[in-house]
Amino acid sequence: MNPRPLSRFKGKRVFVTGHTGFKGSWLCLWLKDLGAEVFGYALAPQSDHDLYCRLGLSRLIGHLEADIRDAELLREAVRDFRPEFMFHLAAQPLVRLSYEQPLLTFETNVLGSLNALEAARGAASLRAMVYVTSDKCYENKGLARGCKEDDALGGADPYSASKACAELVLRAYQRSFFAGRATFGAASARAGNVIGGGDWAADRIVPDAVRALVAGKPLVLRNPGAVRPWQHVLDPLYGYLMLAARLYDAPKAHAGAWNFGPELGQSRSVRELAKRLAASWGKPLKLEIERSVVPEARSLKLDSGRARRLGWRPRWDFSRAVSETASWYQAVAGGQDALAVTRRQIGQYMV
Ligand SMILES: NC(=O)c1ccc[n+]([C@@H]2O[C@H](COP(=O)([O-])OP(=O)(O)OC[C@H]3O[C@@H](n4cnc5c(N)ncnc54)[C@H](O)[C@@H]3O)[C@@H](O)[C@H]2O)c1
Repeated sequence: MNPRPLSRFKGKRVFVTGHTGFKGSWLCLWLKDLGAEVFGYALAPQSDHDLYCRLGLSRLIGHLEADIRDAELLREAVRDFRPEFMFHLAAQPLVRLSYEQPLLTFETNVLGSLNALEAARGAASLRAMVYVTSDKCYENKGLARGCKEDDALGGADPYSASKACAELVLRAYQRSFFAGRATFGAASARAGNVIGGGDWAADRIVPDAVRALVAGKPLVLRNPGAVRPWQHVLDPLYGYLMLAARLYDAPKAHAGAWNFGPELGQSRSVRELAKRLAASWGKPLKLEIERSVVPEARSLKLDSGRARRLGWRPRWDFSRAVSETASWYQAVAGGQDALAVTRRQIGQYMV
């Protein structure tokens, strides 16, 4: 890995929304270890199990437990911290929950993102903003070539549509407010399905599989044949960091949208992921199939050619992503300190 762009964060003030979540926790620890001063804004962690708590991040970074839908509070928090970088990750990220709670999903993902942009607009200190949406923001036509950044936005379910809406809101802000700001750049980042140690969310395949393996129970799969672009959490985070560093140096050249997906041949089915995880764990795992009650999108592929121009590429393939994930959960289940295990994996990733 070329460590130079990441040295950009040393001594810098970085504001992260969604810092109590799975990706946010990995990102904040990585930023902290790169020498940044980090401030997080998100809802409280859901349980003591959450990676945020296991890493003891509340002692390592500044933070505010607050709602992204509270525009005034968010604006004040950003203004008071005077960040140079901002990563916006806070979201309701679950497709199935978005069917049950569409209003919450749109409010959080669209209005919340609008609030983040407003806060960025009011922060003269800010030089670079990475605005996290999703690969699901595309109109999914099942293209074998993989979606490119200029392909049509879409989204058949509330979550996917909310991320497409968030993209449109950013586009309007770029043209209306940010284009004339010479020392500030904002870009959206679209990644695939992320796996890695420390995710305990309900209704996600890896946490469900780990719970089944630990309890010696069968794993229920609702859509075993669905093919997804799985990637280790460190791969897209590396992309977000590279993008932010490049935006800082050349904001106008790096504004816009960026895909950070795995290599095209690396997408795998839900069933393959479960089997590979069990094999890495070294324990048999019985799979039970239950028909999904909500429609699930067919395979979606990302073309990440543009991100290569940043000097980014996925560093861990499917097999490595799964084995690192299994080894994280096993080490922590075996009594090792989660902070040390997570730092070790970040260190291995950066070699
Ligand atoms: N996990 C994936 O596979 C994946 C894939 C593509 C994109 N993403 C995107 O990456 C981002 C992070 O996802 P994650 O997997 O870490 O999710 P997560 O559920 O683990 O974390 C979500 C974070 O958002 C915060 N949040 C939710 N509602 C909020 C609100 N109303 N006010 C303030 N904070 C709120 C939570 O407190 C938490 O900190 C999201 O934007 C998600 O859509 C995730």
